[in-house]
Amino acid sequence: MWQLIFKIKTMSKRIAIIGGGNLGSAIADGLIQSEFSRPVELTVTRRNPSSLSRFAEQGCMIHSDNKRAVKESDIIILAVKPYNFADIIREIKVVFNPKKHVVVSVITGVWIEQLQEAIGKPVPVIRAMPNTAIAIQQSMTCLAHSGASVSQLNYIQQLFDQLGKTVMIDEKLMDAATILGACGTAYAMRYIRANIQGGIEIGFDAATASLIAAQTVKGAAELLLQKGTHPEQEIDKVTTPKGCTIAGLNEMEHQGFSSSLIRGIITSYKKIAKD
Ligand SMILES: NC(=O)c1ccc[n+]([C@@H]2O[C@H](COP(=O)([O-])OP(=O)(O)OC[C@H]3O[C@@H](n4cnc5c(N)ncnc54)[C@H](OP(=O)(O)O)[C@@H]3O)[C@@H](O)[C@H]2O)c1
Repeated sequence: MWQLIFKIKTMSKRIAIIGGGNLGSAIADGLIQSEFSRPVELTVTRRNPSSLSRFAEQGCMIHSDNKRAVKESDIIILAVKPYNFADIIREIKVVFNPKKHVVVSVITGVWIEQLQEAIGKPVPVIRAMPNTAIAIQQSMTCLAHSGASVSQLNYIQQLFDQLGKTVMIDEKLMDAATILGACGTAYAMRYIRANIQGGIEIGFDAATASLIAAQTVKGAAELLLQKGTHPEQEIDKVTTPKGCTIAGLNEMEHQGFSSSLIRGIITSYKKIAKD
């Protein structure tokens, strides 16, 4: 019953995704697949909308008229590159209505204050940092806000909850969230790729090695998420004294495994903070 009420409520909000690229399309996919939005309630724009035809086939509006998309929607998700942000806001700010619109920005490195200044109206702004797993509703999305009411905030959190897990953070941690949550997907992929390379060397074909590596990492992550344990508690369960696991783990550490990951994260963070 609650789910039905929730779905009826969500049906009344129209969502415009300005910038249907990798992330914008992934959000649209997730919203449709999770049934948070009906395709008819969703507009996706880009300058070259022909590459969005799969959304049109499902019933979404696709075009390149950003002003029209804003006018016809309640929630405006900005998913353009940082260098496109100023031009887009200049184009659409005239049609923003603070009583109607909520702006959600996934644009990396653009602060809420910058957005509000550029818009020049007291429109509530929520900054979101999801990752590409949003396409399969498995994102980790960090959210920060300014000027949003509790109900607006709840709505946006519910929107992203359909697409994975969410956490509210202070905006000053948004760069750190970008590194750990969004760049983190790339770090995890490299870890899995290395496992595949190792797996092939010890006898598996590439496809079997990929399956074993990816499912093992997924299972390890689920152990932590579902049981709330610390990684070392789970490692203790796998390491037999004098066994092969601890021998391999210690060799990895001698080669700088944890240290290289931490240094990589800090290098990424310094880069984002500098740029
Ligand atoms: N990918 C990630 O994992 C991730 C995670 C978190 C945050 N972000 C942030 O999300 C944003 C989008 O990233 P992305 O990887 O999705 O980039 P992307 O694939 O380049 O997508 C940006 C889209 O914006 C469209 N665009 C540019 N100017 C436009 C305009 N005037 N009107 C409408 N659409 C316009 C582009 O399409 P046309 O050229 O056809 O207009 C393009 O499809 C970036 O700010 C990024 O930092 C990305």
